[in-house]
Amino acid sequence: MTEPDIKKGLAGVVVDYTAISKVNPETNSLLYRGYPVQELAATQPFEAVAYLLWNGELPDAEQLAQLRLTERAHRAIPDDVRTTIDLVPLDAHPMDEVRTAVSLIGARDLAGTGSVLDASGSAEQNLERSIRLFAVLPAIVAYGQRRRRGLPPVAPRDDLDYAANFLWMTFGEEADEVVVDAFNRSMILYGEHSFNASTFTARVITSTLSDLYSAVVGAIGALKGPLHGGANEAVLHIFDEIGTADNVGPWLDQALAEKRKIMGFGHRVYKRGDSRVPTMKAALDTLVEHYDRPDVAALYDTLESEFVARKGIYPNLDYPSGPAYNLIGFDTETFTPLFVAARVTGWTAHIMEQLASNALIRPLSEYNGPDERHIDGYVADT
Ligand code: ACO
Repeated sequence: MTEPDIKKGLAGVVVDYTAISKVNPETNSLLYRGYPVQELAATQPFEAVAYLLWNGELPDAEQLAQLRLTERAHRAIPDDVRTTIDLVPLDAHPMDEVRTAVSLIGARDLAGTGSVLDASGSAEQNLERSIRLFAVLPAIVAYGQRRRRGLPPVAPRDDLDYAANFLWMTFGEEADEVVVDAFNRSMILYGEHSFNASTFTARVITSTLSDLYSAVVGAIGALKGPLHGGANEAVLHIFDEIGTADNVGPWLDQALAEKRKIMGFGHRVYKRGDSRVPTMKAALDTLVEHYDRPDVAALYDTLESEFVARKGIYPNLDYPSGPAYNLIGFDTETFTPLFVAARVTGWTAHIMEQLASNALIRPLSEYNGPDERHIDGYVADT
């Protein structure tokens, strides 16, 4: 019998076409709808990039103004969603809080739509749902951090763009421009990344003709894991463990002897460096200067150079974004929810693309359990 060609973890398997983004590990580049992500990060507000991901083109001034109007109108958390968030234990992980909130938002929105046969919705409905989730997720993430700190919620501000308003709702004060800019860049860089684990989860769920919210809830579950989105949080735990740059060597000796994975390094697709890292590292550098924290830069650079020298494994986006979010003032457990707020744009773009030319995603497996056998009068010993 010939051995089946099993692609563990679907590594190297091309599952479908996508027109949303192109990851090219050979040239270390990432394009959203054809545009290099570093150009988008340097020039665009996140709202415009969300529009691009959903619609295929950057918005003109009127289209951007219209999106901003709709986004601003849906920023506030509905009261019953907030009451439900309050039921989530304060010591639960905020990803569970975000997942729960999105699930309830979906149930409210789809209430009365009847049969599951109608669950997947039209392209217009799904675009509207995508914009509403994009609009409300910052308030959910900000509310979560404030709730855990025992602080009252801060209402959204209509006069602030997405990134500035996100920071306003989290910290209750207007952020400096350099901070807003670094944060906006991080959102753009996290927005989309082809068939990563959470996006693929969303596409699998969508392929059954389930609804957009179910697909996003599933994607949040996939993103929570430390091999995926959870790594940005894990980077900060590592930084806390190491303490200062001069402790990197001994810490790394021990971590590698224990065969630990160093979070924020390595990538399934990029083997010679993540295309998003230089842009996020530049944003981190501006924050290091703004907050006058050369110690963070020293720890970052030392761990990177020592780990790359020993293992030849390069940082991924989570490596610079973790310390950047820490400097801005986000609690460590809020980092992965920030990733949700950004990646919901990519997820929903993929959900709509999947529906536009759907095929049920259902791979095969090779059975390696016991050979066929029979009950032969077996009775459990009760
Ligand atoms: N630290 C230590 N060793 C590593 C790391 C790491 N961060 N990443 C890979 N390796 C080693 C593995 O131990 C393995 O070694 P071996 O062949 O001796 O067993 C080899 O490199 C290959 O690693 P795999 O995990 O098999 O490679 P894969 O392509 O499946 O892994 C992954 C990609 C899961 C991202 C991995 O690099 C990892 O676990 N990194 C840490 C978690 C992380 O940072 N995730 C964020 C991903 S990017 C994002 O979501 C924005």
